[in-house]
Amino acid sequence: MIVLGIESSCDETSVAILKDGKDVLANVTATSLNKHKEFGGVVPEIAARHSLEYIDKVYTRALDEARVKPDDISLIAVTYGPGLMGSLIVGVSFAKALSVALNKPVMPVNHLQAHIFVNFIDNPMPEGRYMGLAVSGGHTSLVIVDGINFREIASTRDDACGEAFDKVAKILGLGYPGGPVIEREAEKSKRRDLKFKCGQFKGSFDFSFSGIKTGVLYYVNKRANFEDEIPDIAYAFQESVVKDIVKKSVKAALKYGVKLISVGGGVSANKYFRNMLVEKCGEEGIEVLFPKFEYSLDNGIMVAKAGDILYSYGVKCRTGFSPVPALGWRR
Ligand code: KG4
Ligand code: ZN
Repeated sequence: MIVLGIESSCDETSVAILKDGKDVLANVTATSLNKHKEFGGVVPEIAARHSLEYIDKVYTRALDEARVKPDDISLIAVTYGPGLMGSLIVGVSFAKALSVALNKPVMPVNHLQAHIFVNFIDNPMPEGRYMGLAVSGGHTSLVIVDGINFREIASTRDDACGEAFDKVAKILGLGYPGGPVIEREAEKSKRRDLKFKCGQFKGSFDFSFSGIKTGVLYYVNKRANFEDEIPDIAYAFQESVVKDIVKKSVKAALKYGVKLISVGGGVSANKYFRNMLVEKCGEEGIEVLFPKFEYSLDNGIMVAKAGDILYSYGVKCRTGFSPVPALGWRR
């Protein structure tokens, strides 16, 4: 079974080829990241135009790398949401056109579910229920997963955690995207008394990262030379966000009685986060699965894997679907 995965929900345009659910034959990505830097965030129109320009090149390159002919493809899987409308249209239209041209079935895939499923390329899929944790530029959610059914049990009420990294980096003048630079700056800090706070809600595992961003802004505004303190501010911010996500994830896993957490999304590339989550989960006997670095950011292989799983569960392929920017977690 050879699945072609197409991802274009934000600033990445990626096409991947997965064989028998485990062999990654190709995972080719073009990103418009550099074109957004001067604006301090992703500009939807630029992302969509870039996707349109590159999608066929990325597709051809993926086939070449995989040494696969179009006719060898068994299934086309494509992200149809959530994401930016313009970017999604490019991937979905390309997938549908390919489906008609090659006479191959097409499976619409939820981008968030794909972030969670990608871990089952290298690990066996759990038999029973488990928890999914999505931490990205657009989402921070905890879900209970049973087979191919996802139920959200907590999410952010304002900014996503990745978005908070990006906004704090902007306040500190560190550029975009914020996650990797904040992580690097934080490594230089030795100070441990500076604290910022994430939002808490009684009786809920929901997240809030908008207040901590304002907290950093107020702190920076009242310092004459905040530049000297950048590593310390980065450390204190990262520590607070990571601790908050780890604490709520472990508590939720215990409450829902799950023994495994599958983590996905751009922020899962953060080493401080990985280490703390593994450590705290380990203390409670909870197993954690992280994607390889190249599978933590948006990519086609996660979409191919999700398509492969849905197909194996008997989900019917269809062409009568449209992009859904605010898809949430539903299939
Ligand atoms: O999953 P992703 O590639 O795209 C979305 O679907 O949003 O995630 C991008 C987000 C950005 O906000 C970026 O700052 C964050 O992931 N990110 C990180 C790190 N690398 C990327 N956040 C914290 N630490 C990192 N090392
Ligand atoms: Zn993503």
